[in-house]
Amino acid sequence: MGKIKNQALEEIEKAKSTDELYSVQVKYLGRKGELTLLMQGIKDLPNEEKPVAGKMFNEVKVELEAAFESKKSALEMAAISQKLSGEGLDVTAPAELLAGEKFKIGHIHPVSQVQFEVEQIFSDMGFEIMDGPEVESEYYNFEGLNVPGWHPARDMQDTFFIKGAADKKHGRLVLRTQTSPVQVRTMEKYGAPLRVIAPGRTFRNEATDVRHEHTFNQVEGILIDENISLAHLKGVMQEFLTRLFGRSIKVRFRPGYFPFVEPGLELDISCMLCGEKGCRVCKHTGWLEFMGAGMVHPNVLKAGGIDSKKYQGWAFGFGLTRLVMMRYGIDDIRLLTGGDLRFLEQF
Ligand code: FA5
Repeated sequence: MGKIKNQALEEIEKAKSTDELYSVQVKYLGRKGELTLLMQGIKDLPNEEKPVAGKMFNEVKVELEAAFESKKSALEMAAISQKLSGEGLDVTAPAELLAGEKFKIGHIHPVSQVQFEVEQIFSDMGFEIMDGPEVESEYYNFEGLNVPGWHPARDMQDTFFIKGAADKKHGRLVLRTQTSPVQVRTMEKYGAPLRVIAPGRTFRNEATDVRHEHTFNQVEGILIDENISLAHLKGVMQEFLTRLFGRSIKVRFRPGYFPFVEPGLELDISCMLCGEKGCRVCKHTGWLEFMGAGMVHPNVLKAGGIDSKKYQGWAFGFGLTRLVMMRYGIDDIRLLTGGDLRFLEQF
């Protein structure tokens, strides 16, 4: 047995690669390895010799296993340092990289990049940044916004309902169709005066096309104070778009209907994809519908616990995803949530 042990140790020492080392391990300690077969012979020894032989075999086995392990580590280290000297690798790189595993460092999604810029510009203008739940109650998404269940305006936003979930006070649970539920939530929490924006994801059960997604991002804005008019909204939007695009952007206001504002309006921005010549994104009009807005309806102020005789204000909700399209010249909204890394890696 001593001979086999020495022979094994010698071969372990000579092994030049982990593959070679593995073959040596199989040769001696494998199921049909030389040492294993010898050990199996213990059962044929006289009873009084069995314990001594068993102990000896165990010691040899432990010694060989330790020798295999230490040689294996030495061979792996040697392979790494060879790589380092041969390929001029960065020694400060994480160990996984040195061991040959590949991973990529990601980056911020273009929608989030623009969202951060939007937040910066509005916070420079004194707006707080708020958040609201994506799974929302029917109450905050509709009733609190002056849209009761029977109201035809419910059909304007095809809604995803959460199966089985219901609450008597707040109605069923829905995936919010707009960021507007944040209006009543922030009014309830902070009262007036109020100056906030609330960016977030919204969901609608609609057919997709180049400018419509079922999952898209909006930014809600609310300004409530004394003596507030739509002139302030125009000024804020002009300042916002000019800062974001670094030049003055052509916009137009037109009347629009939303039950939670009175009067209501929509704001279109000139289509930057075609330079107003007309394309499939702007439906060949040169204008892209960008946001809904208006003076907050007294019923909504009431739902938020604000005295509508003392305070008034406006709210808006714009399509952040559409803004990203204009910002980067993307002519199909579906690319942004399509998950194709070849597309996303360009930003
Ligand atoms: C609303 O969602 C209102 N909550 C806006 C509002 C807020 C009005 C506050 C008054 C006061 P609308 O459904 O028009 O309105 O959507 C607002 C913007 O979201 C649109 O102008 C558009 O830019 C974007 N948008 C709407 N639907 C989609 C969609 N399916 N895909 C991508 N963007 C969309």
